[in-house]
Amino acid sequence: MIYGYECMKEKIEELKSAIAAAKAATIEEVEALRIAYIGRKGRVTELIEQFSALSGEQKKEFGRDINGLKNAAVERIAQLKELVENAVNSSSASVESDIDITLPASVQSVGSRHPISAVKQQILDIFHRIGFVTADGPEVEDDWHVFGALNFPENHPARDMQDTFFVDKDILLRTHTSSIQVRVMERQKPPIRVVCPGRVFRNEAISYRAHCIFHQVEGLYIDKNVSFADLKQTIEYFAKECFGEQSTIRLRPSYFPFTEPSAEVDVSCNLCGGKGCAVCKGTGWLEIMGAGMVDPAVLESCGIDSSVYTGFAFGMGVERITMLKYGVKDLRLYFENDERFLEQFKAVY
Ligand code: PHE
Repeated sequence: MIYGYECMKEKIEELKSAIAAAKAATIEEVEALRIAYIGRKGRVTELIEQFSALSGEQKKEFGRDINGLKNAAVERIAQLKELVENAVNSSSASVESDIDITLPASVQSVGSRHPISAVKQQILDIFHRIGFVTADGPEVEDDWHVFGALNFPENHPARDMQDTFFVDKDILLRTHTSSIQVRVMERQKPPIRVVCPGRVFRNEAISYRAHCIFHQVEGLYIDKNVSFADLKQTIEYFAKECFGEQSTIRLRPSYFPFTEPSAEVDVSCNLCGGKGCAVCKGTGWLEIMGAGMVDPAVLESCGIDSSVYTGFAFGMGVERITMLKYGVKDLRLYFENDERFLEQFKAVY
């Protein structure tokens, strides 16, 4: 069909407004519009073909309008395409907008073992590996299990109100877990190989290095022919397992009512390697426990024949071991439940 002059003008106007009003909701609809207007057989394309059939004069007249129409069509279709694409993106974005994957994840704080529990378990595990078993006992004890059976003389200062929390005349909070060992010896015949963890209580002023509540692990080994060499070997094994292969121990003579001979055990300072530093106060050694051969009087008190059996015992403070292992400088931190302190032990178990 060949358009006449008026008709051409009308057609251009009609297509212009149709194109301006064209709408599309999907990319397929945009494509359909493109084909309908500027495709090979589209309405604008068709008009352009008609236009080329016009005479030179007419061409001049409509050239600009036709061109304008074509550009308007191309532009509008591009515009619709962009609108549809943006709508698709923003609709999926609106679903995602509640979940901004670029935000840092909210941290789910995972709890961890208290350093005292963790180190207590480490100590127990070291002894379990060489055949010791764990034994338990009450925190509220009688005088016999804490002092009497352990050869404390009647007037020993540890029995004093100053050191011990009494519940009643004869009932008290245990000052050491040696009371568990007495209970084990009373009910079990040798061989005995136990480790006794637990809370102990002493009437001490609270400071960075002392607390009225703390934790101990004590150990007891009773059998025929148990010697001081066994004690030394066992403690050296413990020191190496606990503080590292390079660790060595030394024993200093000491006194406990329930052991004879008795010793304080030092481990070589693992911070300075024995050269001397602030933690070991320049000595190269750190005191970690008390130990000794069980006094025959204690064995007899518990019904064990001291002419047949011998044994050794040792006892250590879990707070102190933890301080030495992890460089904790103030004992009070263990009891404050400050997360900033506790979370530093997340990797310790
Ligand atoms: N019972 C002692 C204490 O509390 C430690 C210890 C145990 C010492 C066994 C020697 C032998 O402190």
